[in-house]
Amino acid sequence: MLSDPFPVYDRLRREAPIAWSQQWNAWVVSRHADVEASLRDKDNLSNENRQALLFDGLPPEQRESLSRLRHYFAQKDVIGSDPPDHTRMRALVQKAFTPRTIASLQPRIEALAAELIDAAAAQGEFDFVADVAHPLPVVLIAELLGAPPEDRPLFKRWSADILGFQGSGRTAYASALVSQQSLTELFTYMTALIEDRRRAPRDDLISVLAAAEDEGRTLSRDELLATCNTLLTAGHETTTNLIGNLVRSLLLDPDLWKSVVASPRLIPAAVEESLRLDAPKQRYFRRIKHAHTFAGAALAADSMIFQLIGSANRDPDVFPEPDRFILDRRNVRDHLSLGAGIHFCLGAGLARTEAAVVLARLMERAPNLRLSGRGFSWQERVQFRGPASLWVSTG
Ligand code: HEM
Repeated sequence: MLSDPFPVYDRLRREAPIAWSQQWNAWVVSRHADVEASLRDKDNLSNENRQALLFDGLPPEQRESLSRLRHYFAQKDVIGSDPPDHTRMRALVQKAFTPRTIASLQPRIEALAAELIDAAAAQGEFDFVADVAHPLPVVLIAELLGAPPEDRPLFKRWSADILGFQGSGRTAYASALVSQQSLTELFTYMTALIEDRRRAPRDDLISVLAAAEDEGRTLSRDELLATCNTLLTAGHETTTNLIGNLVRSLLLDPDLWKSVVASPRLIPAAVEESLRLDAPKQRYFRRIKHAHTFAGAALAADSMIFQLIGSANRDPDVFPEPDRFILDRRNVRDHLSLGAGIHFCLGAGLARTEAAVVLARLMERAPNLRLSGRGFSWQERVQFRGPASLWVSTG
């Protein structure tokens, strides 16, 4: 299921487009139309404190020792809120992600991509994930938040730990404890950074958000910390996976790789088709706010519903030949990898730019790149899809 979920998705779409999963303790929807409708349904479904449901199955003493983690998830932030709070917070965070801001980041992304790719390519053979796809987004997001360079390895660890226990409705206690520990460390760290920027504002996102907190009522301290965590976790591994999946798909078909090398104007289309084919995050979920009927099923309040993005993106009713990487797919932008509706990804422009810049630089520096004989493996991580390692050779 982790390395090849697609046969299961096919069966679900055909035989049980909405199904109750005992294993996930949740409803699961898999057809494109239902996944999109479910993502957009802000009347019946909620993002607010949805993680609380993940702890329901644990014994009382375990729930108690996870009280800090549960408290955190009870805080609202841009992704973990519904209107009107969501509208207020999104308007604020959006300021950091305008097309102008993203354009102003482009030179930095280019410099970073060049630095990482040139150093990796000089080795002849290298692991593209470890050397490029992983460090680039984490360095950028840490810079955006205003963290000094020497602290960046911390962000990488925190991000992996915090997300580790999520992905199905059943929570493993040990990984939830790890998540709680890393979240506490991140919050201690960010609190110090926020205090610093309140005293001496700089030209970074954290100064903007800290000023918003100071101005009162726009963002509380808890909301501010939760937003920092969302920016870190939402913007990091997803982008790593996109970049890794994109390069892998192109290298699997050398003719495809060559055609993009010959026409770099095809790069945005390649990025988009990669997003469709291999959704970096395969599933999202909501809490059911009101009992209602959806796709013929009676959904009770306070249960969970998972939207299988990875399945929606390969629904043959929307995408002909869904398992093929097709560069000029007419309706590629109908994929749901970046969400739909009010929570549509705020970092979409940034993620697309990062992927396009990396691919352009890689093709320029190593036009004859190929998969090396050292093999390939998928990350065995619940909910994410991306290579654990991708060994390549410059030719
Ligand atoms: C390929 C990379 C990415 C993917 C696949 C992705 C995917 C998504 C999806 C599906 C959502 C909607 C979640 C929901 O409906 O509950 C979302 C929301 C969000 N993403 Fe991304 N994302 C990516 C990159 C980024 C980056 C780089 C950032 C920022 C640095 C970011 C920040 C956010 C934020 C703040 C939200 C919440 C928006 C809201 O609730 O209004 N994402 N993302």
